[in-house]
Amino acid sequence: MAANFAMIMVTILALHHQTTAATNVVKTEVFRSPEIVMEPGLVSNKNYFNIDFPRGHIGLKSFNAELVDERGNPVPLHEIYLHHWVLNRYFARKNNSIDVHDDLSIVRNSGICENGLPQYFGVGAETRRTSTHIPHPYAIQVGDPATIPAGYEEGWVLNVHAIDTRGTDDKMGCTECRCDLYGFSASGGGLHCCPDDSRCRLKQGFRGENKTIYLRYTVKYVDWDSSSIIPLDIYILDVTDVWTKADQSKGIGSTHHCKVEYGVESCAAGVEKGGCVDTKSVSFSFPVGGDVVYGVGHQHAGGVGTTLYGQGGRTICSSKPIYGKGNEAGNEAGFIVGMSTCYPTPAAPVKISAGETLTLVSNYSSIESHTGVMALFYLLLAHSDPKPLPTLASKFMMVHEFVWPIVLLGAVVIATVVALKGRIENSEGYEAMQ
Ligand SMILES: *[C@@H]1O[C@H](CO)[C@@H](O)[C@H](O)[C@H]1NC(C)=O
Ligand SMILES: *[C@@H]1O[C@H](CO)[C@@H](O)[C@H](O)[C@H]1NC(C)=O
Ligand SMILES: *[C@@H]1O[C@H](CO)[C@@H](O)[C@H](O)[C@H]1NC(C)=O
Repeated sequence: MAANFAMIMVTILALHHQTTAATNVVKTEVFRSPEIVMEPGLVSNKNYFNIDFPRGHIGLKSFNAELVDERGNPVPLHEIYLHHWVLNRYFARKNNSIDVHDDLSIVRNSGICENGLPQYFGVGAETRRTSTHIPHPYAIQVGDPATIPAGYEEGWVLNVHAIDTRGTDDKMGCTECRCDLYGFSASGGGLHCCPDDSRCRLKQGFRGENKTIYLRYTVKYVDWDSSSIIPLDIYILDVTDVWTKADQSKGIGSTHHCKVEYGVESCAAGVEKGGCVDTKSVSFSFPVGGDVVYGVGHQHAGGVGTTLYGQGGRTICSSKPIYGKGNEAGNEAGFIVGMSTCYPTPAAPVKISAGETLTLVSNYSSIESHTGVMALFYLLLAHSDPKPLPTLASKFMMVHEFVWPIVLLGAVVIATVVALKGRIENSEGYEAMQ
């Protein structure tokens, strides 16, 4: 499939002779971001407003992404590192042109950091092998006309932070945004040292060609149907959260100031290398109760695991990095290419109570020092019990696009290919959102 085409594939599985309603269908759409032109050493950290996205009142079922080249071939992390991508939802005045963002407000997720991390979706290098699907009967509700203010419309802004490490002196140092490698005198590292258009130090005399890349993203969704779908709320927890307790007597609510990044110092000389683990943790009272439907951690290279504990020490979800072992995209040695996920089942539910003290623990290997590392935890929570759904088997039957030819027999498959060209928008001058 030509890469500059977005593909819409709707697969309808009719198990019975009755026609299935539109809400029974999981639709898959694949889009591309505007082009991103890279050069060896160059950083691109831009926001793309009003990106292509399914419209209407829908329930999001999954969101996956990866960097691809002009032919649609996956770009490996050791060439161009995907530091992160972040997808934010917003309401914008209808009359505004795409390039006017003076009347636009980000629709935050449900919490809990108030100074950042408002996104609906967003991870980094691990995106290729991290599951994001949401099981039946749940979905993330968006595009509900009743919640969009009059005169406004919903849009999505995508932030992509990519680092071209071809020909660089220290690939891992570049991916960790070490300040010295970017020509900053500051010590340490982090996002402040690898802003848009900054450059990581190249090997002397290295020359390489420009490379045009895109973030290709796949959105799965269903048409919203409140009788059969339970909405989920998105929470993002951060191990660097500085929590200030609410003080009811003074009428002050709690605050969560999330720093997002931190550094890992190398373990003291003489310590046996296998025992060099940096452990960081944070505890806070979680504001709402609910059922955990999905959980996943986010760590950078060097991470060895992150776990969210409930009050009393029970494990709510443990998420471990998957490291690549080869050279090809999706299996790059030395990089985190996926994170394990948690899907509690109705038979073994995981509940969080309102006001419960949660503890987030993040471990990194400290054999070497690391800069600009992160430990986030995404939780999708349901606030009501699933209704009994006797017709579960015939509802939300999802057919993966690569296996559909196999199920053609006895099934009705409608595949529509629609050409949609990705818009290129000028996003210069906008602050990075992470
Ligand atoms: C790509 O290459 C040309 C020269 O061939 C250069 O002028 C341009 O700045 C390069 N980089 C980007 C990011 O476009
Ligand atoms: C839309 O924009 C035009 C030109 O800026 C302006 O004249 C008009 O009043 C705007 N309409 C609304 C509904 O804001
Ligand atoms: C973190 O490391 C400590 C000490 O090595 C260990 O006890 C704990 O189980 C680890 N936790 C995770 C989440 O990996």
